[in-house]
Amino acid sequence: MDTTCIRFALGAILLHLLLLSLPNLSIAEFIYSPHEIFSINCGSNSSLSTRDGRNWTADIKFLSENKDSVAAPALTPSTQEGPYTDARFSHSQFTYSFPVSTGPKFLRLFFYSTSYQNFHRSKAYFSVKAGPYTLFQDFNASLNADADDDPAQTDILFREYCINLKDGDRLNITFIPSKTSQHPDSYAFINGIEIVSMPPFLYYTNPDDVDISGWPQLVGLNTNPFPIENNFALETNYRLRVGDQQIPASQDTGMLRSWDVDNKYVTTQSVLSLDIGIGIKLTFTKIPNYTAPDTVYRSVRNMGSNGTINMGFNLTWQLPVDSGFTYLLRLHFCQLDPDMKNPGYQSFFIFVQDQLVEKWADILGWSDKQEGVPVVKQYVVFIPGNQQETLNLSLKMHPNPTSLAKDAQINAIELFKINNTTGNLAGPNPDSHPKTSEVLLPSSNKKSKGSTRTLTAAVAGTVSGVVMLSLSVAFFLTKRKKNMAVDEGSNKKGGTSRGGGSSSLPTNLCRKFSIAEIRAATNNFDELFVVGLGGFGNVYKGYIDDGSTRVAIKRLKADSRQGAQEFMNEIEMLSQLRHLHLVSLVGYCYESNEMILVYDFMDRGSLREHLYDTDKPSLSWKQRLQICIGVGRGLHYLHTGTKDVIIHRDVKSANILLDEKWVPKVSDFGLSRIGPTGISRTHVNTQVKGSIGYLDPEYYKRDRLTVKSDVYSFGVVLLEVLSGRQPLLHWEEKQRMSLVKWAKHCYEKGILSEIVDPELKGQIVPQCLRKFGEVALSCLLEDGTQRPSMKDIVGMLELVLQLQEGDVNGVMESGGDYEYGDDVFSSSHNSVHVSDYSKSTGLSTTRDGDRSYGSNDFVLIPDDVFSEIKDPNGR
Ligand SMILES: *[C@@H]1O[C@H](CO)[C@@H](O)[C@H](O)[C@H]1NC(C)=O
Ligand SMILES: *[C@@H]1O[C@H](CO)[C@@H](O)[C@H](O)[C@H]1NC(C)=O
Ligand SMILES: *[C@@H]1O[C@H](CO)[C@@H](O)[C@H](O)[C@H]1NC(C)=O
Ligand SMILES: *[C@@H]1O[C@H](CO)[C@@H](O)[C@H](O)[C@H]1NC(C)=O
Ligand SMILES: *[C@@H]1O[C@H](CO)[C@@H](O)[C@H](O)[C@H]1NC(C)=O
Ligand SMILES: *[C@@H]1O[C@H](CO)[C@@H](O)[C@H](O)[C@H]1NC(C)=O
Ligand SMILES: *[C@@H]1O[C@H](CO)[C@@H](O)[C@H](O)[C@H]1NC(C)=O
Ligand SMILES: *[C@@H]1O[C@H](CO)[C@@H](O)[C@H](O)[C@H]1NC(C)=O
Ligand SMILES: *[C@@H]1O[C@H](CO)[C@@H](O)[C@H](O)[C@H]1NC(C)=O
Ligand SMILES: *[C@@H]1O[C@H](CO)[C@@H](O)[C@H](O)[C@H]1NC(C)=O
Repeated sequence: MDTTCIRFALGAILLHLLLLSLPNLSIAEFIYSPHEIFSINCGSNSSLSTRDGRNWTADIKFLSENKDSVAAPALTPSTQEGPYTDARFSHSQFTYSFPVSTGPKFLRLFFYSTSYQNFHRSKAYFSVKAGPYTLFQDFNASLNADADDDPAQTDILFREYCINLKDGDRLNITFIPSKTSQHPDSYAFINGIEIVSMPPFLYYTNPDDVDISGWPQLVGLNTNPFPIENNFALETNYRLRVGDQQIPASQDTGMLRSWDVDNKYVTTQSVLSLDIGIGIKLTFTKIPNYTAPDTVYRSVRNMGSNGTINMGFNLTWQLPVDSGFTYLLRLHFCQLDPDMKNPGYQSFFIFVQDQLVEKWADILGWSDKQEGVPVVKQYVVFIPGNQQETLNLSLKMHPNPTSLAKDAQINAIELFKINNTTGNLAGPNPDSHPKTSEVLLPSSNKKSKGSTRTLTAAVAGTVSGVVMLSLSVAFFLTKRKKNMAVDEGSNKKGGTSRGGGSSSLPTNLCRKFSIAEIRAATNNFDELFVVGLGGFGNVYKGYIDDGSTRVAIKRLKADSRQGAQEFMNEIEMLSQLRHLHLVSLVGYCYESNEMILVYDFMDRGSLREHLYDTDKPSLSWKQRLQICIGVGRGLHYLHTGTKDVIIHRDVKSANILLDEKWVPKVSDFGLSRIGPTGISRTHVNTQVKGSIGYLDPEYYKRDRLTVKSDVYSFGVVLLEVLSGRQPLLHWEEKQRMSLVKWAKHCYEKGILSEIVDPELKGQIVPQCLRKFGEVALSCLLEDGTQRPSMKDIVGMLELVLQLQEGDVNGVMESGGDYEYGDDVFSSSHNSVHVSDYSKSTGLSTTRDGDRSYGSNDFVLIPDDVFSEIKDPNGR
């Protein structure tokens, strides 16, 4: 269970988040309002409203052939909210029949693969047909669920299809148990079915289009248009928002699609630009405004700022797909980069399956030379094979050598499987073929071309016929999303494990607590156990494992979406980081509307509490230096110790906790985000967040977030440590109001001793003070590039400590029991996901520095951004 804990938590929480976000979004506010929505809670006779805005209803009236089917409750309830409590089962065929109107629809299937009363999990083995299409063929639900990267998450299986109904059709969905002599007692089951109407030509091609240049283009020898005809069904394989966090169904344009993160599929270096063009309004002149949520077009992935390097590689995605099918690839672009104002300035090649599909991809050119005009380019590609293999479909982008800007960028990728000629969409079960038999596509180029030619021929006839086609038939979309949540990355095709982060997490990283355990640990949230009262929630001291282990229990009863996002971010980040100087997450609890984080207990509270506004004994100078060095090491690890650069974004004395041996631990990763990756590692653009008084001016003035933003905040902490005062004191005389300004002033005047904490009087040797001041002020340089790295800072602080001890040549003393070490972190620093769950819209600091959240008044765990739900039912 532990291994799965994180994804599981994230899934659950995202769902929760999605629910929380709904109150503000009535369907009417969405760009597109489906005229038909069926959300069926199979096997249940009561209705269920989930907080994602879905109203699930009983299934009985849609059952057209149900003699033998029965309803049964799950033996282990799912922790996911949704139609998972009950399911409908049968050992013989059963059919749902929906009286839907004509036109394209999303069909979504929800399965919770677990044991139900009288139905053992492993015996679920069945096919599913919808209209003329085969969606599943001999589908082994438990096998598919288990093959998922994350066992906890996989218990939920989710598929999305597009299907287009002819006038007068009912949509019949039939579940057929696959009986064999070895498996005579197979059964079929289903937990939830959803049908949502969609705009007519969102994914289907409008045959009346005069201008067929917007039609999907066949990849291969020729580039014939390949319209998506009304009698095709599609299965959503990927819907990836490139470069930023997942967008939940509730935040779609009204069709309840979710947009997953792409980072699992990017195989080369790249750089993210997030939240770009915030002030620019998007203009939907090329595509309808319901095509994708606005936010999709405001985050891009590109190659990096060094054009020389960019010329040397292809920005590449590899998307595992079932062989033997044709796929529709939709690429979304939007130019918002003010540096790319002129058409022709940036153009790039696009390769699909190593075939050149665009030799002059010029986003501005595509969008009438206008910034902020989203465009979509569509390609159809055949992946040859016997339907039993999982192969990669590759997307590569490369700067056109004649382009001024040597870069390429993209906002979103959608990939749909198209039914084959017999109406089949089903792929193999995961373990039905040995992995070794998989063929690497790049090496099977010839085969690929040959087959494409065949396809071209086969399709040519259709194409001409299609133009005349009247509206007819069916449509489907499947999504390989297991879950509504963060899980896109662990999607799986066939038997290929896509080795996501969570599967390789050490098993001891994260533990799931039940609410009962938490209640027991805190004597039912007894006030006597409260050790921290933040503006946003309580922190309790608790005892777990029969009282043997003390923990800090941070309780969020999600009041705000932001809190929930930060909650997830904290779990995501902390579960993957291990370092002596980073606070350890013991586990979490997500149950009964509670979001609770459980940490190692830090006996001595925050650094801030030992510096000012406190009656605790003052720290000695040497203690303070050691703490600074430890914090420096923690931040150095964040910046460089993992595959991705991690920017903490909220470094401050209140977020530095001290254990009983005074070892400092950086805490509160609610705002952290993955920084730019790749060689150029420059900056990400992002909404300004953080704490007033600690904010890098470069960051809040220019939205440039870099590791040097943390360096700046760390410089402020150094000054706090030296002066024993807050960064901002509004009642101080003007000159002293800002600690940074005052320190700069004193340093320049050579009177730095004026800012020294009176408690430290006589403790600091002069050359040590001078050097310390130098280090602190170098962190606070206006120009981020001039600021030293955390590594250099740690080195300099070690020197400062030696100066203090009059031991300039000696080896640094570690001081007591307290051991420093860079390599104390475990092997857990595997991939950290580029997704960012903290990018909340609310908790931002406005540009004039007004903090819109957070108080500095906490006792133990600082900055509790979490608060209690005042009315958990009030949505
Ligand atoms: C979306 O586009 C339609 C048609 O152009 C327009 O009527 C509608 O107001 C737009 N909706 C929003 C939210 O911009
Ligand atoms: C609904 O289902 C429950 C459990 O299956 C059953 O006890 C109850 O009688 C049913 N109610 C109706 C109205 O069918
Ligand atoms: C669900 O039901 C509520 C209350 O009747 C209604 O306001 C809401 O619009 C419904 N949601 C959907 C998606 O139909
Ligand atoms: C389905 O998979 C399970 C393992 O999850 C296995 O025990 C069972 O035999 C499989 N059923 C069939 C029909 O292959
Ligand atoms: C769907 O099922 C209904 C009820 O069983 C049946 O009357 C109808 O013919 C079926 N429609 C199709 C297209 O199979
Ligand atoms: C880009 O990278 C190349 C090769 O590493 C290097 O020589 C060049 O100086 C870099 N240019 C810039 C502007 O950083
Ligand atoms: C980029 O990919 C294309 C298509 O596979 C290939 O021809 C080209 O050599 C690649 N370029 C680089 C620099 O890897
Ligand atoms: C998809 O299935 C339909 C119905 O069987 C068929 O008419 C159509 O040709 C199929 N599409 C493709 C691309 O084979
Ligand atoms: C379509 O898929 C079915 C089921 O896998 C298969 O039997 C059939 O041969 C496929 N048709 C083509 C033309 O590939
Ligand atoms: C698909 O691409 C990924 C990432 O490059 C690679 O690890 C995997 O082996 C590839 N799978 C196949 C079947 O080629």
